[in-house]
Amino acid sequence: MDILLGQVVHFTDSPLRGGTAQVHEAVAIDNGLIHAVGPAATLRAAHPRARVTDYGSDLISAGFIDCHAHFPQTAIIASWGKRLIDWLNRYTFPEEMRLADPAYATTIANRHLDLVTAHGTTSVCTYATIHPHSVDAYFRTAQTRNMRVWAGRTAMDRNAPDGLRDTAETADRDTRHLIDRWHGVDRLSCVITPRFAPTSTPDQLEALGAVWRDHPHCLMQTHLSEQTDEVAWVQSLFPDARDYLDVYERFGLIGPGAVFGHAIHLTPRERARLIESNSGVAHCPTSNTFIGSGLFDMTLARQGLRVGLATDTGGGSSFSMLRTMAAAYEIGQLRGDPLHPSALWWLATGGPAETLRAGHQIGNIAPGMEADLVVVNLSSTPAIAQAHGHASDIWQAAFPTIMMGDDRAIRAVWTNGRQVGLSPRTVT
Ligand code: GUN
Ligand code: ZN
Repeated sequence: MDILLGQVVHFTDSPLRGGTAQVHEAVAIDNGLIHAVGPAATLRAAHPRARVTDYGSDLISAGFIDCHAHFPQTAIIASWGKRLIDWLNRYTFPEEMRLADPAYATTIANRHLDLVTAHGTTSVCTYATIHPHSVDAYFRTAQTRNMRVWAGRTAMDRNAPDGLRDTAETADRDTRHLIDRWHGVDRLSCVITPRFAPTSTPDQLEALGAVWRDHPHCLMQTHLSEQTDEVAWVQSLFPDARDYLDVYERFGLIGPGAVFGHAIHLTPRERARLIESNSGVAHCPTSNTFIGSGLFDMTLARQGLRVGLATDTGGGSSFSMLRTMAAAYEIGQLRGDPLHPSALWWLATGGPAETLRAGHQIGNIAPGMEADLVVVNLSSTPAIAQAHGHASDIWQAAFPTIMMGDDRAIRAVWTNGRQVGLSPRTVT
C-alpha cells in the first residue's frame, strides 16, 4: 500500500456536462488500483503501515491519455512542410517505411514511450505502420512497462508509395491475427485501423468493417475531415457517399468504439450522426494548427459527443498533453469559446478515457480505478511560479502550467500502482 499526499483531483463528471473537480488531500493505492481518496489523516490512520510519499502542493491527477498518436512518426515531429497531403508524402511515408526494419520499430516504440512518459502520459492510442511487427514492437514495449495502450496496424491499399501498400486481404488477415495474439493480453488492446478513406479501396474498408463486426469489443480508429482539400478528394473518390462520414458508415465503420481523428470540417448531418451513433472524436489541436487544418468546434462535446485531446504526433508539434491543452484553449479562444482549465484537464484525462471506452478503468482518481497517475509541479519554472503566486483557487493555480508547462512540470509518474523513472533511457 502506498499513500500519496498532494492536491488529489477527482472529477464527478466532465465539466463540459456540468461535472466538477473535487480536491482531496491523499490517495491510497494498492495492487495497481486506487484504494481510497480522502483526508490524509484518515487514510494514514486506516493504513498505518503504508509507505507515504508527500508531494506537498503538487497536483496529483489521473495520468494523461493521448487518444490519437502515430508512434512511427516520433522522429519526424516538427518537420517543416505545407499541407496534409504534401506532409504525408514528404516526411511521413518515408519515415514509416523505415519501420520495415523490426529493430528500428522497437527503437522508435521505446523512444515514443520514454518521451510520452516523461511528459506525464500514461496511456496512448496509436497508429502503427502497415508492418504487423510494428504493432508487436509497441505492445512488447508497453507490456514491459505495464502500460495500458491501444495500437493498430495501419491499413492502406492505395494512394501510398510502394512498400507501404497492403491489400484488402493482407489487412484483414494481419488485423485478425494481431487481435488473436494481443487483444486483452495484460493492458493491451488492438484497434482496427484504416488510415483514412483516401488510402483504402472500398474492398479494404469492407474487409475491415467485417473484422470489426466479428470483434465488436475492439476500437476502430481513422481520420475524418481534417482538411478541406482532403474532404474534396474523398468526395471525388467516393462520389456516391453523402459526405466523408458516410463513406465510413457505408462500410460499418462508425458507432460505439469508433475514434475519429480531427473531425473539423463537418456538415450538420455529420455532426448529428457522430453524436447519434455514439462515436468518439480525438481533437488534435497542435496538429490542427501545425498542419493548418482548422478549428475544432468543442460545442460537439457539450452536445454529448465523446471527445478527448490527442497529440497526433508527428503531425502534432508536441508530446506534451499540457501543450495540447494550451492549444485547445487557444483554438477555443479563436472560436469565442474559452475553455475552463478544469474542462481542459478533463479533456486530457477523463475525456480520452471515455473516447477509448475505458472511462471505468483510467482517466480519473476514484476507488477501484487503475492507479495510473501524474504528479504535476505547479511552479516548475520561474515564469510559471511567479504567475501562480496570484492564484486564488486550484484552477487559477494550474492555468499557467497548462499554458506554459512542459516536461519540467512532471514531478512523478505512477503506472499500474508503481512509480516509474522519467529520465529518457533510449533516446540517442
Ligand atoms: N491523415 C492520414 N494520415 C495522417 C497522418 O499520419 N497524420 C495526420 N495528421 N493526418 C493524417
Ligand atoms: Zn493522425
